[in-house]
Amino acid sequence: MKGIDALGDLRGKRVLVRSDLNVPLDQQADGAVITDDGRVRASVPTIRDLADAGARVVVVAHLGRPKGEPDPQYSLAPVAERLSELLGRNVAFATDTVGESARQTVAALADGDVALLENLRFDARETSKDDAERAAFADALAELADAFVSDGFGVVHRKQASVYDIAYRLPHAAGGLVLAEMEAFSKVLDDPERPYVVVLGGSKVSDKLGVIDNLIDTVDRLLIGGGMAFTFLAAQGYGVGGSLLEADQIDTVRTYLDRAAEAGVEVVLPADVVVAADVSADAPTSVVPATEIPDDQKGLDIGPATVEQFRAKLADAKTVVWNGPMGVFELAPFADGTRRVAEAVAQVDGTSVVGGGDSAAAVRQLGLDESAFTHISTGGGASLELLEGKTLPGLTALQDTPS
Ligand code: 3PG
Repeated sequence: MKGIDALGDLRGKRVLVRSDLNVPLDQQADGAVITDDGRVRASVPTIRDLADAGARVVVVAHLGRPKGEPDPQYSLAPVAERLSELLGRNVAFATDTVGESARQTVAALADGDVALLENLRFDARETSKDDAERAAFADALAELADAFVSDGFGVVHRKQASVYDIAYRLPHAAGGLVLAEMEAFSKVLDDPERPYVVVLGGSKVSDKLGVIDNLIDTVDRLLIGGGMAFTFLAAQGYGVGGSLLEADQIDTVRTYLDRAAEAGVEVVLPADVVVAADVSADAPTSVVPATEIPDDQKGLDIGPATVEQFRAKLADAKTVVWNGPMGVFELAPFADGTRRVAEAVAQVDGTSVVGGGDSAAAVRQLGLDESAFTHISTGGGASLELLEGKTLPGLTALQDTPS
């Protein structure tokens, strides 16, 4: 995959950069506030490199899932402001995607200037399943630029006009973020140093089945926490009280436990859990063995004995992939498991890759040192699909040449 150097001299060229600026917003009376700007920060280096090279940088992105028409609550305007602060230079904002405002904004750019176009998903063609509709939108985007840089790693699993189709229309390259993400994931997927430990959490086991399926024969240890652990405990025949349970996945989970046993992979489930009657920061909590969860209680975090067990299993690891929180970390009484496991992952003497989405958010919300990890992915679904061993359309398109 080629980086931006392959595009040659960029001075005066209009470069369309697809970034993933899909950040959580809190809508307040006086405007929307970005509650986690991690993806904006991760997008800055490529945009800055292009601007420093004299390109006229046209950033395109999506925010949320609007219904294919303008919807103010999904405007990228607050993101333009944050991007401008982080870049330390003005970011011109176009109030449409490929219309009059976009054309004028791009035409007004001087070398080294940066613009951001409005949320691409305000046009239904961006995400259309109809190839011709997507192609028409990609044509309109391509008219705004001389080259394309794909840097929105979080969206490379989507076959969408600005991610996929555009690469067939313009000379293209991968941005630094996409290259860094690919390097980190190739390292853990293709040639992991051992012991290789994967830590999975999060609420739904059904979200992680593809990852377990792809990795179960290659890892040395699989540590399972979070809400998904209860389906594993149920598969072993234990009652889980009012904890999250996907009853329809119990049989599948059992087959994974059998496969792990055959492959000699150690699967470590929680030994104890923090329980409460309600998912509330005020609810009284207690710690119980994972095999004895009372019927009227829900397991909301891994317990202290599990933390110690997981830490011991991580201590000598040379490669760790962690995806999914160990509990309801957003509420203080249930944050300890995630915090302490994250700290243990960070201390690993080797490669530590944190899957995006909730685990990346947890690292930031819990105030952990991001630099202690080898790599924190900006991709939620995209990083899961890579761990599932899938081919991602946005990456395939970069390997193909424009027709
Ligand atoms: C994400 O948040 O994972 C990416 O920005 C992709 O968003 P999407 O799931 O709405 O396509």
